[in-house]
Amino acid sequence: MSKDSKFGLVVETADGSLSVKDPTIDEEYHSDGGALFEARALFIEASGYIGRLDRCFDTAILDVGLGLGYNALLSIEYWLAAEDPSHQTLVSLEKNSDLVAALASGDGPWMEGWSQDWLDLASKLEKKDANDDKVLWKATITHRNGKVLSWTVIVGDALDANLNDFSFDIVFQDAFSPQKNSRMWQSDWFQKVFDRAKEGCCLVTYSVARPVKDNLEQAGWQYQKIPAAGKKRSWLKAYKSSKS
Ligand SMILES: C[S@@+](CC[C@H](N)C(=O)[O-])C[C@H]1O[C@@H](n2cnc3c(N)ncnc32)[C@H](O)[C@@H]1O
Repeated sequence: MSKDSKFGLVVETADGSLSVKDPTIDEEYHSDGGALFEARALFIEASGYIGRLDRCFDTAILDVGLGLGYNALLSIEYWLAAEDPSHQTLVSLEKNSDLVAALASGDGPWMEGWSQDWLDLASKLEKKDANDDKVLWKATITHRNGKVLSWTVIVGDALDANLNDFSFDIVFQDAFSPQKNSRMWQSDWFQKVFDRAKEGCCLVTYSVARPVKDNLEQAGWQYQKIPAAGKKRSWLKAYKSSKS
């Protein structure tokens, strides 16, 4: 199935979830292995997020490239399903304001077939104008144990985002491919994230390209290749560690 939309061609991925092919850079938002599959296997499982939930740790996630919302919403779904999780912070960065508005209003053509739970979570996002002319969207979600997940979407170029109020345990690096969007894979970007990462912070991504590894290393990250699930052979996991 594929159909045109104002966001680009909507395509069905291998697991049945819908993605979009961005017309300006001619690349899909997800691998053809599946939008949901990639969100679960790489960003939720390989990042160690489930272990943090099991150990009831406070967790702050930086979601680089909110896109169609799969990684963000799946992380919230896991947090809500956890038995007794701690507080959570989720910061999503997205330059395309139309995507965020569509997600919040439930109008995104890729949202066809989404559960009512996901639609309800996305609809909690409310637009706020920040002091510095930046647009923010915010949602607060409460667990049945009373703990709170605070979700902030910062609209604009991630390289300009003010992240000074945050420090992160996990980074979902999901900003299109280095070939098509190289700015988001340079050492100055990885340095910016490193500066806001806690000791032990884990960054996960699908690119194992040599320049990506070099740029991560230059910014202070220690990386390792990990076996990928699905069609790709490897993914990348990087840590902030003061131990050599
Ligand atoms: C591969 S898609 C992300 C898919 C998404 N994580 C999901 O779960 O659906 C990449 C996203 O990064 C955004 N992006 C790319 N460069 C950016 C930048 N410099 N600043 C902010 N967002 C950016 C794009 O607009 C796009 O929505």
